[in-house]
Amino acid sequence: MTERRSNIRKTFAERFGSAEGIKFSRAPGRVNLIGEHTDYNEGFVLPIAIDRDMIAGFRPNGSKMVNLYAMEMNEAASFSLSDPKTDPAHPWMSYAVGVARVLTEYGHELKGIDAVLQSTVPVGSGLSSSAAFLVSIAKAYCDAAGIDIERKALARMCQEAEIRYVGANVGIMDQYTALHGERDACIFLDCRSIEHETVPFTTDVVKVVVADTTIRHEIAAGEYNKRRATCEKGVELLKQHLPEIKSLRDVTPEDMTDLAGSLPEVVRRRVRHVVTENMRVKLAVEALRHHNFIHFGIYMEASHESLSKDYEVSCKELDVMVEIALGLKGTYGSRMTGGGFGGCTVSLVPAENADEFCKQLAAQYEERTSLKPNVYVCATAPGAEIIPDRGAAFPGC
Ligand code: GLA
Repeated sequence: MTERRSNIRKTFAERFGSAEGIKFSRAPGRVNLIGEHTDYNEGFVLPIAIDRDMIAGFRPNGSKMVNLYAMEMNEAASFSLSDPKTDPAHPWMSYAVGVARVLTEYGHELKGIDAVLQSTVPVGSGLSSSAAFLVSIAKAYCDAAGIDIERKALARMCQEAEIRYVGANVGIMDQYTALHGERDACIFLDCRSIEHETVPFTTDVVKVVVADTTIRHEIAAGEYNKRRATCEKGVELLKQHLPEIKSLRDVTPEDMTDLAGSLPEVVRRRVRHVVTENMRVKLAVEALRHHNFIHFGIYMEASHESLSKDYEVSCKELDVMVEIALGLKGTYGSRMTGGGFGGCTVSLVPAENADEFCKQLAAQYEERTSLKPNVYVCATAPGAEIIPDRGAAFPGC
């Protein structure tokens, strides 16, 4: 048993009497390599699930109560499945309550659980700590009640919980990746059919470096939802010329050449980002299939430029981080990742340069912004899973 699970087990025993019969529900965060703000436009994304995750140590408690303890925050909260309500003193509860409500609305009868939650996905950093939370607690509920929900359906339910109970009108990428991630692979997801192909991606010759600007965003706080609304506006306006389109996914670069002039300035730039980003994802997948990281990097750089200028979801610190990364020896590509307005950048660098890259990036960023970033190499990880407790068989572990 890992040290981390052993700590969760110990905390569980302290809070709930014993750790007899607990299981662990693990769900990873993700880094999106390319394809930003395309998911809710039925477009394409290319994330990897990463080795940063949320683990819930849980056990059914024979009642209708859900009793949670969040280790990092040292906060405990409870609610009843008969009337799931959040407590404004613990905003993080809305994830657990939201998922419970959605699963119940879909006709699943849940059972009360005791759970200790521990996450290594930094909150608000664009690595989808929220999906890791939603999915790990959803899997814990399902396991405790003996419910088997197919992964795609569960991803949709977790997305619905985030939209309705957390208030962010998010797409499907994060929840889907938390459930379908694979070691040594990217998830090339078509957000219209909600089907994916795995594209092999081993991190032995190329490293994925995540750099946290430490600037925190609040995507629920409006700007994200505004972007989504502007895209819908774009569809409505373009339908006057292209009545067959259902979403921005259906708009081609050629359509944009013909029709860009008919759109108001801001709508035009938002639409242009989505249309060109979808194209970049497809090109990047081809590059990856040919191990052509130079081309892949060029698409990443163009993606950042488009997110910064056309979609306006970057910020000064993200732009600085990307600029520094692109100036360092050997960097293939770098861009902001996730919803934006702060959070992390993702860079691809040759394995032999990774250590020096991390050092230089951190030092130069601090010099330019006076902020201390967190810079680390990420590995790909499998999607969510339930792990039985082996500690019980090896007391003292
Ligand atoms: C957030 C959302 C995703 C996606 C990204 C932007 O992470 O949860 O659905 O829209 O932003 O690509």
